[in-house]
Amino acid sequence: MQLLDIGTYFTSVQGTEPPVGSTLDDDALRALYAYPADLDRPWIRTNFVASIDGSVTANGKSAGLGTPADSQLFGILRELCDAVLVGAGTARAENYGGVALSTESTARRVASGLAPIPTIVVVTASGSIEADSRLLTDTEVKPVVVTSSAADGAKLAALRAAGATVIEVSGESVSTTDIVDSLAELGLLRILCEGGPGLFGQLVSDGAADDLCLTISPILVSGEAGRIAHAASAADTSMHRAHVLGDADGTLLTRWVRRT
Ligand SMILES: NC(=O)c1ccc[n+]([C@@H]2O[C@H](COP(=O)([O-])OP(=O)(O)OC[C@H]3O[C@@H](n4cnc5c(N)ncnc54)[C@H](OP(=O)(O)O)[C@@H]3O)[C@@H](O)[C@H]2O)c1
Repeated sequence: MQLLDIGTYFTSVQGTEPPVGSTLDDDALRALYAYPADLDRPWIRTNFVASIDGSVTANGKSAGLGTPADSQLFGILRELCDAVLVGAGTARAENYGGVALSTESTARRVASGLAPIPTIVVVTASGSIEADSRLLTDTEVKPVVVTSSAADGAKLAALRAAGATVIEVSGESVSTTDIVDSLAELGLLRILCEGGPGLFGQLVSDGAADDLCLTISPILVSGEAGRIAHAASAADTSMHRAHVLGDADGTLLTRWVRRT
C-alpha cells in the first residue's frame, strides 16, 4: 500500500510522517491509524467500503466490494479498537460473530494495555438479535446490546441468558447520547463503528462522527443500494483529509477527521 497524501494538520505520527510515495507495512499502518492518545470520551471512528459510484453493497453485501487492501485495513482497525459498534441491521445482514484476531494481534493489544479482544456493541430498537446467532455463539467475548424500551422483553431475556450485557434506554430508539454514554460507562473509548448506514447516518446527524475511514473500491455497481449514511434529517460535518493510501489494484483508502 502506498501513501499518496498525508495531511500534516492531523496525524498521530506528527513529525514522523512517512514520506508521500512510500510503501507502508502493517506497523506503519498501525501508527497512521492510531487513536488519539489520552482520550477522555469515546472517539467514534467509522469504517466503510463503497464503490466508486457510492454504493455500500454489491449483490446485497459489503463483502462484494472487498479488496485485499480493504481486508488488510479492516483487520488493523479491529486490532486498534476497544469496541466494534454496529447497527443490528448490519449484524443480521452480515451474520456477525465476535471479533477474531491472530495470536500476534492479541499479544500486541495486551502489550499496549488493551483488552485481548474488542467487544461487539450492537444497537437495536427492536431487540431482534437471536440468542443462538453467531454474535453469541461464535465469540470469545460476549456482546453488549444497547436497546430501547420498544424491545421484545423475551428476546432480551434470552440474550441475557446467553451471556450478553443488555443495556435498555428509555424511548423507542437509542439516541446518540445514549450510545456514547453507554460506551463511556463501559470504559470503551476507542470505538470502531462498522455501520451500517442507518446507525452512521444518525451519528453524522448528531455531529458524533469523529473519524471516517472510507475505502473506495475500484468498481462501479449502479443499482439501488444506498450510500454510507442515511437519516431523516441532513446535517453538515466539516472534515479534514487525514490521508489517502492507494493499492496497486486501484483501491483508495481515505481517512477523514472531524474539524474541531
Ligand atoms: N459497505 C460497507 O462498508 C457496509 C458497512 C455496514 C453495512 N453495510 C450494508 O448496509 C446494509 C444495512 O444497512 P442498515 O442501514 O439497515 O444498517 P444498520 O444501521 O446497521 O441497521 C439499521 C438497524 O439497526 C438498528 N439501529 C441502528 N441505529 C439504531 C438506533 N439509533 N437506535 C435503535 N436501533 C438502531 C435498528 O435495528 P432493529 O431493526 O433491530 O431495531 C435498525 O433497524 C447491509 O446491506 C450491509 O451489508 C455496508
